Amino acid sequence: MEKYPTKNQKVIDWVMSIAKVTEPDEIYWCDGTEKENKKICSLLVEKGTFIPLNPKKRPNSFLARSNPKDVARVESRTFICSENEIDAGPTNNWAPPKKMKKMLSKLMKGCMRGRTMYVIPFSMGPLGSNIAEIGVEITDSPYVVANMRIMTRMGKKVWTVLKDKDFVKCFHSVGMPLKKGQTDVAWPCNPEKTYITHFPETKEIISFGSGYGGNALLGKKCLALRIATTMARENGWLAEHMLIVGLKNKKLGLSSYVAAAFPSACGKTNMAMLIPPKSMADWEVSTVGDDIAWIKPDETGQLRAINPEAGFFGVAPGTSIKTNKNAVESCRANTIFTNVALTDDGDVWWEGLTDKAPKHLIDWQGNDWTPDCGRPAAHPNSRFTAPASQCPSIDTEWENPAGVPIDAFIFGGRLASNTPLVYQSYNWQHGVYLASTMGSEKTAASEGKTGEIRRDPMAMLPFCGYNMGDYWLHWLSMGAKLDKKPLIFRVNWFRKDSEGHFIWPGFGENMRVLEWIVKRVNGQASAVESVFGYSPTYQDLRWKGLNMSEERFNELMSVDVNMALADVKAQSDYFKPLRKQKRLPEDFEAELLLLQKRLERKK
Ligand code: GTP
Ligand code: SPV
Ligand code: MN
Repeated sequence: MEKYPTKNQKVIDWVMSIAKVTEPDEIYWCDGTEKENKKICSLLVEKGTFIPLNPKKRPNSFLARSNPKDVARVESRTFICSENEIDAGPTNNWAPPKKMKKMLSKLMKGCMRGRTMYVIPFSMGPLGSNIAEIGVEITDSPYVVANMRIMTRMGKKVWTVLKDKDFVKCFHSVGMPLKKGQTDVAWPCNPEKTYITHFPETKEIISFGSGYGGNALLGKKCLALRIATTMARENGWLAEHMLIVGLKNKKLGLSSYVAAAFPSACGKTNMAMLIPPKSMADWEVSTVGDDIAWIKPDETGQLRAINPEAGFFGVAPGTSIKTNKNAVESCRANTIFTNVALTDDGDVWWEGLTDKAPKHLIDWQGNDWTPDCGRPAAHPNSRFTAPASQCPSIDTEWENPAGVPIDAFIFGGRLASNTPLVYQSYNWQHGVYLASTMGSEKTAASEGKTGEIRRDPMAMLPFCGYNMGDYWLHWLSMGAKLDKKPLIFRVNWFRKDSEGHFIWPGFGENMRVLEWIVKRVNGQASAVESVFGYSPTYQDLRWKGLNMSEERFNELMSVDVNMALADVKAQSDYFKPLRKQKRLPEDFEAELLLLQKRLERKK
């Protein structure tokens, strides 16, 4: 009797128990085949969720428009349900696991009525590699199935690898059951009752009410970051919101991989696929990952990183041939677009794709749009879901289960003032401190007001599955164990002048900063000691091909001591809740004091 595609009794029991509660019309076990994908996409077209794009312009690609109330991650509805509140820490929403589960089980009662329940087996990381983690997502959203197929290694092969082992239980429902005869909507969701909940101690995820991005594709932020941070802490590795990029220069004899953390919608995809300017064409840049890195020490004490994902869920607006040609190429076919605009000839458009907007579009909400109508055509957090294998700059090692060696960590926020273009930390401990106090403006990638500055330690504020102070301590102790510590850098591409213009050209030109970083790693570039760390002088960077005066560069690197001292005070205030909980690493108090002393001497 072969009723189920797996013999794993824990999977079967869990799936059946969920079905009993949620009461779907049907249960479908995904196999990940091409044939299945065709069927799912046709169903989505039939339901009106997918609009097929012009196959001549965008083969095998679709446009989805979400409910306008379901357009980004909802941090206010994201919970870490550890047994003890202190283990979630002051930066996470917390609820007791029992209480949360009780509440959720009420919501889940009959929540899949009138719908099909899909069972998606998936692997984060190359299938069968010893660093991969296996999850099973139950969802009532065929849109999620189509996206998970691109973003993860999904399908029946996963059962063969899983055998009878444990897996991460990922439950997802759009939270909109259908009554008998009730017609469905194109984007079912339940914005009033959205919950994205994590149970780190039992490695479970329950997500209810949203069908968008990281709220619903549970392999990504929920598993590969929030649950994985807990696993990483237990087992001595790091799960980070980082891109991984290879930087090679044959002429200079340099070759390094670096991992870089930037908050959501702050340039990870761009840096992961960077194309150097013509004047720096001696550099070859290759992409390993654009959002998440799992980083483990090997037996020689070297950190090696893998990209647990198989696709890009990239921000569309601002992506163009000029800013990110490789991303544009990555979504030339076999791509799902969500909340971008539709052109009259059945292709997609978003702000920044071309200099001039088309004369007429259908906007992300399905309305007629003309350039003078005063509304954006694409939602600011509109995205493309594209297979990583389609990226022209994809690194030859991107699926190597052993990962790539990491020589440097780079941390960058979106800050308009008083944060220099680049500097290197004095040492590991100082670098961890710099990363933990990083600030950034809020972007459209999460709900809420954009532009407001907040601390976003390691770009992990919304993604760390446990107490932030313990996470910092874990970073500190990792360094102590490493024979070959990566160097740590801070960068800021987003500094503005008094007229509100970006001072730094950014994008491909960031290669000039990355060159200095790789040279530092190899002991080939000089630097001066500043109050913040080691900084390049004008002479230390390559300028051929870019018009950047020494004055302008100095403006980019300058620090207002009084403003910096005010920030020291703000950092200390920021630490207060952790200090009170006795979870602030002692080393941080020392770093704070040292920073203050350096600045006071400068006054
Ligand atoms: P998530 O997928 O949300 O985690 O974000 P990401 O960090 O991958 O975001 P992405 O690379 O898609 O960032 C997109 C935004 O960053 C767009 O608004 C870009 O215009 C902007 N951006 C990227 N690189 C640069 C840069 O070097 N300079 C400036 N000024 N803007 C940049
Ligand atoms: C982010 O917000 O950092 C993303 C998009 O990468 S989402 O997967 O929706 O979280
Ligand atoms: Mn991200």
